[in-house]
Amino acid sequence: MKHLISVYDLTLEDINEIFSTAERLKRQLKEGVEHKILKNKTLGMIFTKSSTRTRVSFEVGMYQLGGYPLFLSSNDIQLGRGETIYDTAQVLSRYLDGIMIRTFDHSDVEDLAKYGNIPIINGLTDLMHPCQILTDLFTVYEHKGDLKGLKLAYVGDGNNIANSLLHGCAKVGMDISVASPKGYECDKNIVAEAQKDAEVSGSKIVLTEDPYVAVKDADVIYTDTWVSMGQEAEKAERIKIFMPYQVNNDLYSKAKEDAVFLHCLPAYRDYEVTSDIIDGSQSLVFDEAENRLHVQKAIMVKLME
Ligand code: CP
Ligand code: NVA
Repeated sequence: MKHLISVYDLTLEDINEIFSTAERLKRQLKEGVEHKILKNKTLGMIFTKSSTRTRVSFEVGMYQLGGYPLFLSSNDIQLGRGETIYDTAQVLSRYLDGIMIRTFDHSDVEDLAKYGNIPIINGLTDLMHPCQILTDLFTVYEHKGDLKGLKLAYVGDGNNIANSLLHGCAKVGMDISVASPKGYECDKNIVAEAQKDAEVSGSKIVLTEDPYVAVKDADVIYTDTWVSMGQEAEKAERIKIFMPYQVNNDLYSKAKEDAVFLHCLPAYRDYEVTSDIIDGSQSLVFDEAENRLHVQKAIMVKLME
């Protein structure tokens, strides 16, 4: 594992190793044990989209590992004024030990990895959000003790989160049902990749338009915003289309009684999820947000130690 661009590229062993490192680093942090594994290493963090969790968790994580994080907004670096990915990759590879990038085009992340010679971490593209999904699976594992055989239901937009959930669940042997309206389904290539992994892991993949079909007997219910970054102009139309996909008490009651709720955040309460669900006792959203820190530290250790 040289980079983290897509969960599909990882082996089950990679994922297990990330989880066990994350578990150890989380425990040590709470015990006050220092773990400066990346002492004197540097991580460039390129952002062409907004962020709260990704930025803060990577920056604090790198600090806790003894390294130095650099926040590089695309408004400030020459990439934002048209310098090529090729030149940026060449130059930054001479200064840094790793790059985390959040951007629009997935191919920009792949090109950064292709043209540079340091580890590249995908901090979200329009197509995928692998750091988030590894964290989500880790969070479920913490709460349920195992992943294999559980069922996750994703309800809403077939976006970057849904795509990476397909990759992640298929890899670890969780069943996944995705309910999204016509025209807003998951990426076809990603569905095909997930199906390949599902054949090996035994996970069952269901794609449906009906949220009630998706959530039936689910152990985990997951939703995300209906309006991702870059889609702001479509907001009014999307809210109309997605309203039947709201995660509310009625929908939730069709899942298993102990079903937990996940949302990558930021959440738009009373759109994709009602307040009583996201603020309810079965919601893990803040554990999930916290775990970004621990899981991404494990990812950086694996790629940059
Ligand atoms: N979930 C997530 O990636 O949040 P941010 O956009 O705040 O980084
Ligand atoms: N689907 C959302 C995820 C935010 C973390 C977006 O891309 O804006």
